[in-house]
Amino acid sequence: MMLRHIISMKDFSHDEIDIILKRAKDFEPIARGKKSSLLSGKILATLFYEPSTRTRLSFETAMKRLGGEVIDLGSVEKSSVAKGETLADTIRVIGNYADAIVLRHPREGSARMAAQFSNVPILNAGDGAGHHPTQTLLDLYTIMRESSLSNLRIALVGDLKYGRTVHSLAYALSMYHADMTLISPKQLQMPDVIKKDLKKQGASITETTNMEDVLGDIDVLYVTRIQKERFPDPAEYQKVAGIYRVTAELLEKALDNLIIMHPLPRLDEIDPAVDRTKYARYFEQSFYGVPVRMALLAMAMEVA
Ligand code: NCD
Repeated sequence: MMLRHIISMKDFSHDEIDIILKRAKDFEPIARGKKSSLLSGKILATLFYEPSTRTRLSFETAMKRLGGEVIDLGSVEKSSVAKGETLADTIRVIGNYADAIVLRHPREGSARMAAQFSNVPILNAGDGAGHHPTQTLLDLYTIMRESSLSNLRIALVGDLKYGRTVHSLAYALSMYHADMTLISPKQLQMPDVIKKDLKKQGASITETTNMEDVLGDIDVLYVTRIQKERFPDPAEYQKVAGIYRVTAELLEKALDNLIIMHPLPRLDEIDPAVDRTKYARYFEQSFYGVPVRMALLAMAMEVA
């Protein structure tokens, strides 16, 4: 498979996703420490114009465990971005140093724009409230490993308006014919353009504001953080902060095989007591970012 830029889940077919998930499975032993020199001599550049812990460090881990090197732009204030350099110029330059670029940027559409100026693959690690396709691939992988992608009943809860993880995930889930319940306050519903797209693809979507009512009918509960930094008005954030909270008591209503996922970081939307229940999978999920990103790097650098 020839894979150039990874910008949005809309760029992938169902078959391509299956190939990536299968490759990720092959990489799991290396993610757990088995030696590899598959990407020896290759350089990955990481450019994060927004905070990141998991995405940046799991890409870095994936690259290093495969024997490759990583160069990092570091904090935006210390790079030429602070002097006013455009994203297009930064990308042109770094494309001459590295074999692939991981980019996170606050502006929606920035990754697709960057791809137009890059002579190496751009891997979109989040473009504002837009997309986060590499997170989606690790989310799908988690579902495959910990539950099942077939006949899946899943609820996405929280900030469906500004949450890029759920935008990308919803597109992918529609390819797997999942039965989706979207749970959010009215003002944080999934954007209409996305819902329209999903319905065009024949997706089964139900919208509600109530999490409790659906807990007994789902295989996966995908919880998200309210994206405080995207609210134009802090008062509007205060109205919805802490609106959903998954607790151990609430989970008495859950099916036995339910799994709970969260892209993390979490604030108070999952009570820490839930971590000790059989339902919690969010820390496994963050580990799965490593084998999945290994598969993406190997493909982007055309060695697998
Ligand atoms: C998410 C993101 O950056 O969109 N984090 C991540 O990559 N795991 C989710 C979030 O910030 O809430």
